[in-house]
Amino acid sequence: MSGRSIFLNDVPPARNELLVDFLGSPVAHGRIKSVDLSAASKIPGVVALFTHLDIPGHKYFGSILKDEHLLADETVDHIGDPIVLIVAETRLAIESARKTVRLDIEELPPILSIDDAVAAGSFIGEQMVIERGDVLAALNQSEHRLDGSLSTGGQEHFYFESQTAIAEPGESGRMTIHSSTQHPSEAQQIVADILGIPFNHVVVICKRMGGAFGGKETQAAVPAAMAALAAIKTHRPCRIALSKDHDMRYTGKRHPFQSRWSVGFDSSGLITALSLELLANAGCTCDVSPSILERAMFHSDNAYYLPNFRVTGRLCRTNLPSNTAFRGFGGPQGVANIENIIEEIALYLGKDALDVRQINCYGIDDRNTTPYGQRVENNNLPRLFSQLRQSSEYDRRQREVEKFNAASPTKVRGLSMTPVNFGIAFTSKKLNQANALVNIYTDGSVMVATGGTEMGQGLYTRIRQIVADELGIEFGDVIVAPTSTDKNNNTSPTAASSGTDLNGAAAVDACRTLRERLAEFAAPLLADPKTGLVPLPEQLRFENGLVCDSVQPEQFITFRELAIRAYQERVDLGERGYYATPGIEYNRSTGRGNPFSYFTQGVAVSEVEIDRFTGQLKVRRVDVLIDAGQCINPGIDRGQLSGGFMQGLGWVTTEELKYSSRGELLSNSPTTYKIPNIGDLPEVFNLEFLENSASSVNLLRSKALGEPPLLLAVSVWTAAKQALSFVSPAAANRLSLPATGETLLLAMEQTKICSASHAGIQV
Ligand code: MTE
Ligand code: HPA
Ligand code: MOS
Repeated sequence: MSGRSIFLNDVPPARNELLVDFLGSPVAHGRIKSVDLSAASKIPGVVALFTHLDIPGHKYFGSILKDEHLLADETVDHIGDPIVLIVAETRLAIESARKTVRLDIEELPPILSIDDAVAAGSFIGEQMVIERGDVLAALNQSEHRLDGSLSTGGQEHFYFESQTAIAEPGESGRMTIHSSTQHPSEAQQIVADILGIPFNHVVVICKRMGGAFGGKETQAAVPAAMAALAAIKTHRPCRIALSKDHDMRYTGKRHPFQSRWSVGFDSSGLITALSLELLANAGCTCDVSPSILERAMFHSDNAYYLPNFRVTGRLCRTNLPSNTAFRGFGGPQGVANIENIIEEIALYLGKDALDVRQINCYGIDDRNTTPYGQRVENNNLPRLFSQLRQSSEYDRRQREVEKFNAASPTKVRGLSMTPVNFGIAFTSKKLNQANALVNIYTDGSVMVATGGTEMGQGLYTRIRQIVADELGIEFGDVIVAPTSTDKNNNTSPTAASSGTDLNGAAAVDACRTLRERLAEFAAPLLADPKTGLVPLPEQLRFENGLVCDSVQPEQFITFRELAIRAYQERVDLGERGYYATPGIEYNRSTGRGNPFSYFTQGVAVSEVEIDRFTGQLKVRRVDVLIDAGQCINPGIDRGQLSGGFMQGLGWVTTEELKYSSRGELLSNSPTTYKIPNIGDLPEVFNLEFLENSASSVNLLRSKALGEPPLLLAVSVWTAAKQALSFVSPAAANRLSLPATGETLLLAMEQTKICSASHAGIQV
């Protein structure tokens, strides 16, 4: 980090630029009776105030259901739900206007929790189901059966750059928007719809984001549209940058989930049946919640073969900001659930949980189809399990943990290994496509533009590297243009970990066409001076800044020279590449098909120590082994591995969202919401990539790595659960996620107090 990257709000204000912000609802649920702007509009520095009445185009938007409003019309659905857009010369004027607008809102009872929503029948969409075999029969016939429930908490994205957009009105009703967005094309479409102008009148540019983590997949379109509305009305550039506080309070988060489950298994721990009900707190609108719930359902198997399986999923509509994409996209919630179940089985049978995991793990030649019918091809899970079991000295350390726990009156330790088998692809088929523009200039320098956005995950670096390699030139001779909808049209969000898979493949497609064309042109230039023999174009190699005859390497031309000569002879030096992921086909009505292109697999083993008197949890050691195929950039991959794991560590341990009974977020700053910092790093943190991965399905034999590491942090939670089991099975049974110090302490304390009534776990 050099500190030299310019983020949107670092850009100096344009001449004439205005600031934009909004006044949101003070109540979680209410009916708007009146909005009085008369006093606020007279405040010096206030240029304009807008309500839904000022929206020239569509008032509702949304990528799955058009159920979101930019500015509330009849009802307000969460605290902070925007009602009035304030456009002013200064921040001070905005703050005064906020205090001066008079709102008359009839308060309605809010629905905040999953339980409230279920009681009120407040849902979004229908129940979804995926099933295989006859679960009820299999449960009834099973040797053992356990029932239980689990709740997993939400999570704040905590990107450092809050939601930001700058809109510049152009000529003839056109609009350019600089947006911190993962999805420029969707922002373009939403802005155009709201302004009532064609898509081609709007250009959305994203140079980079200061972090996104899913939080800017759909929700960045809101500030973009606010800035655009202000700009088209005032004919002046307009900027909105949410304060951290407002961003935390008013934007969506990871979905909290609740599950109920029944599992059947035999005495070895082999699962014969699993029945599962998932409920997700979606907040006030649909957003991409159905896709998130669906991914949670897909990943409810994690790495295990479940012969008889049924999962149902339902989205609860509540009066909270609409929950949205967050690294893992429902996957972590599904995985935490099955890993909890495995711990329960192990505890019940008195077996090592890793043994239970390994016998249930997807097989290589059999037991390798998911409940939705996709085969787990190139399955490295068994190898990952056994390799890490050995290299982390799992068995020896498990005995040490037992010994330690038997001897320590103050601390209790746990050790646990969990896998990840993350499906790579958008589960929405249409999103699995990308285009790329590659321009070679006459000095041999190259520019590539794709729809992929940079959020710190290293996409631009990877794309530069891929293009440089394809054309056989230096990394430094390639630049990536800021992502923009006028260079790449109808692009997908940079999400689902598939940014490089899709955009990299589209760039490769463009480069290969350019190479063929240039080889055709270069072949006669490389004729043997003695024999006059012209090499075949396929015989030419592009490497080290040269284009040479692979049979006679002394016959070469520099890439630079070739570029200018090709231009002079009118050979096109630009190309648009395209890629659509093959083999993706999923039938939602039958719940069968191949929603994924392949699976990224890994395992992690975590050792934790919990203070029995304070509940404080410390991560002593973490070992990760992941199959990332052939790394495109090992440095970036290590960064994603450690960063993703740490973000997951926060979700499973310290990050806890607290709301007041009115639906107001109380944990709205770093002082009340604890993300991991440097001091929370595991004392020992070993990261390893699986060697000789046989993966061949994907771009350059690599595998996507953006989200999967987050799910490996579930091992920290299961380690905490195992630690509690040494205190008592009831304490372990009660643990919810996150395992905060408070949660852990309460679980241990309640055990002491009511140990009599919780002598056994529910069977
Ligand atoms: N890494 C950083 N530094 N910042 C981010 O915002 N987002 C994550 C992951 N890694 C993110 C990140 C999420 S949610 C996804 S889907 C992927 O990056 C998206 O990028 P990719 O597809 O290029 O991996
Ligand atoms: N992952 C992330 N984002 C998405 C997906 C997905 O599978 N589908 C739609 N948006
Ligand atoms: Mo990532 S949650 O798919 O943006």
